[in-house]
Amino acid sequence: MSASSPLIAHPVPTAIPQHLIVDFDVYNPTSDAEHFHQAFVDFQRATKSPLVWTAHHGGHWIAVGGRDVYNLYADHERFSSRHYFVPATPEQGTLGAFTLDPPDHGPFRAFLNTGMSPKIVTSKIPLVRQLAIDLAERAAGRGGCDFLAEFADVLALTVFLGLVDLPFSDREKLGALVEMAARDPDPEHRIGGIGKIAEYLLPYINQRRAHPGDDLLSHAVNADIGGRQITLEEAIGASIHLMGAGLDTVSSLFSFVILFLARNPEFRRRLIENPDLIPTAATELIRRFPVVVMVRQVRADMEYLGVDLRKGEMVAIPTAFYNLDPSIYERPMDVDLNRGAGKVLTFGNGPHRCPGSILGRNELVIGLQEWLKRIPNFSVAPGATISVVGGTVAKILSLPLVW
Ligand code: HEM
Repeated sequence: MSASSPLIAHPVPTAIPQHLIVDFDVYNPTSDAEHFHQAFVDFQRATKSPLVWTAHHGGHWIAVGGRDVYNLYADHERFSSRHYFVPATPEQGTLGAFTLDPPDHGPFRAFLNTGMSPKIVTSKIPLVRQLAIDLAERAAGRGGCDFLAEFADVLALTVFLGLVDLPFSDREKLGALVEMAARDPDPEHRIGGIGKIAEYLLPYINQRRAHPGDDLLSHAVNADIGGRQITLEEAIGASIHLMGAGLDTVSSLFSFVILFLARNPEFRRRLIENPDLIPTAATELIRRFPVVVMVRQVRADMEYLGVDLRKGEMVAIPTAFYNLDPSIYERPMDVDLNRGAGKVLTFGNGPHRCPGSILGRNELVIGLQEWLKRIPNFSVAPGATISVVGGTVAKILSLPLVW
């Protein structure tokens, strides 16, 4: 699930030392998709303190150093996952594993691991491949398309709907609701979007509780939570999150990757001439184009990285700060197929690390294989400006391509 917030700058609390105050919007560092990642790199390079405060989005801390950000993802003892966007709103309900801390997190995580096991993901591969082939073939003859609307979003949505066994015909309706819950500039509308997803899901949840299948939604809504059945409210929360997490992230990452390939014909040619390189390239592209900015909430007053933090304050932890930190990766902005697989933060770290990472990676690899086979030479439509809308998951909303 993702969220963006309006560009409201709030007054800075008097206790924050002046030298730690910055003017940086973690969700919207720039609206120019081509410079989105560079904006994080520039901020990191220019920032001397490991922890700084910004007045955007209700006011919150930002962890800046790659290693600190990496560690913070896993540090549930000091930082809670209760809120998943800034500003933290009291109305935000719980969303299963996503907003629970260990030990409560465990049982809600178990059914995600079962429902997205490597075996289940492997069983979905023929569907992903056939869908990628159909979509690429349909686009190929037309000389151009919007990569999001006609390929990436359709691929991600359909694969996800197959995983939870919901009707493919609801794709557009659900896509619009997720968009609202994820990126509406008004936090109240985002909460409203979540409510609408709940309304949509309720009949399916009731049906799967009465007649469970082997799909991920059935696993979620019949989960055993420490010896009792998951409650209806918990089941709704867990399903809503799955919806957002599965629908948005893959197409978001994919759109940055295709934009890169459109702008770098030499690199693209390497992949077309050596398709065996695509899985290796996917690993490096997943590092190079992180899209998630999570937040955590300080659990108790403490000193952290030399700064006094107060219980309840929020800390933003952009995944780009690890993947693109030059002290972790040499020349981090280069896409280099010789790097070898190192740790990356694209899918998070610690107990909340993404259970959909294998599926997401497979969608990227298969999507690239089938797209490049049919549409090897493409570029961004002349005159198009490619904008990104930031949030928990940053997303390019439209990517017009021609070939
Ligand atoms: C390229 C695609 C994806 C990216 C970049 C991504 C990224 C992430 C990240 C960074 C987290 C950690 C959140 C945290 O630490 O608070 C996460 C968690 C999660 N992701 Fe993904 N994800 C992707 C695909 C998917 C897919 C396809 C699904 C499901 C079908 C999914 C389901 C989830 C769930 C349920 C969680 C919460 C797990 C927990 O809290 O224990 N993700 N994802």
